[in-house]
Amino acid sequence: MSDGRLTGKVALITGAARGIGRACAERFAGEGAFVLVTDIDTEGAAETVRRIGESGARWLELDVRSEADWARAAVEVQRSHRRLDVVVNNAGITGLDLGPQDPEHTTLESWRAVHATNLDGVFLGCRTAIELMKPPGLGGSIVNISSRSGQVGISGAAAYASSKAAVRNHSKSVALYCAERGYAIRCNSIHPGAILTPMWDPLLGEGPAREAAVREFVAEVPLRRMGTPEEVAVMALYLASDESSYVTGAEFVIDGGILAGSVAQPRPE
Ligand SMILES: NC(=O)c1ccc[n+]([C@@H]2O[C@H](COP(=O)([O-])OP(=O)(O)OC[C@H]3O[C@@H](n4cnc5c(N)ncnc54)[C@H](O)[C@@H]3O)[C@@H](O)[C@H]2O)c1
Repeated sequence: MSDGRLTGKVALITGAARGIGRACAERFAGEGAFVLVTDIDTEGAAETVRRIGESGARWLELDVRSEADWARAAVEVQRSHRRLDVVVNNAGITGLDLGPQDPEHTTLESWRAVHATNLDGVFLGCRTAIELMKPPGLGGSIVNISSRSGQVGISGAAAYASSKAAVRNHSKSVALYCAERGYAIRCNSIHPGAILTPMWDPLLGEGPAREAAVREFVAEVPLRRMGTPEEVAVMALYLASDESSYVTGAEFVIDGGILAGSVAQPRPE
């Protein structure tokens, strides 16, 4: 492809076996990028590569929590591609399967587990990206997937909200650092609201109960629906591409209007 928005670029996406990560991988490849599909779910990642085709993507083993995995990935990217233009730090967990997640009952173990994936993973991803992108003549774009939960408190998912707030802040530190150093590296964060992906399965249940749960949830969303992974991928595409060349240290909300206001407001009689 010669006229894609990412033609000639190499992009690494974490958590690309499903959901938002897979949608980014497919959209980026459709715009001409070569995509390094990474995840701890090897079957899902293989399926993402199969859907894209081996001329546009390959699987790379990478648990975002592991410093050694990131180091190995960096060596492999250098060896095979000699460049890395885009990193999407997307892998994330809610921790809701690890026990209670409210501020009173969260165990230290589960608090740390959530931060290990959501925050340490992003820190390591940014550090690796800087190393690979900083040589003169290269450069790149780092896209960190935070959440609307990084901008407000979430009483029942406190570790998740804390980790996502830290991702929002770290994205700005990375952006400023790279700008100060004269590295041609931009870093921005995306803040999705309720995007219908497998992450929601345990919360929504199945069958008619699922439909009822979605209906109840979207009643609080100004646009009255959940978002799609493809809608988030379009935002990531803009930030990954050179179209956003003057954008760094910024945050992009995609939440159907949830953060625009409060549900507690006076209503006409
Ligand atoms: N879906 C939403 O409503 C929503 C809202 C806000 C933010 N987000 C964020 O978007 C990102 C993607 O969410 P999603 O909804 O697609 O989730 P998902 O659960 O469908 O997919 C997450 C992927 O990350 C992978 N992953 C988990 N731990 C990993 C690790 N240690 N190393 C590598 N991969 C790992 C999983 O295997 C999975 O494939 C997450 O960071 C999430 O917090 C999602």
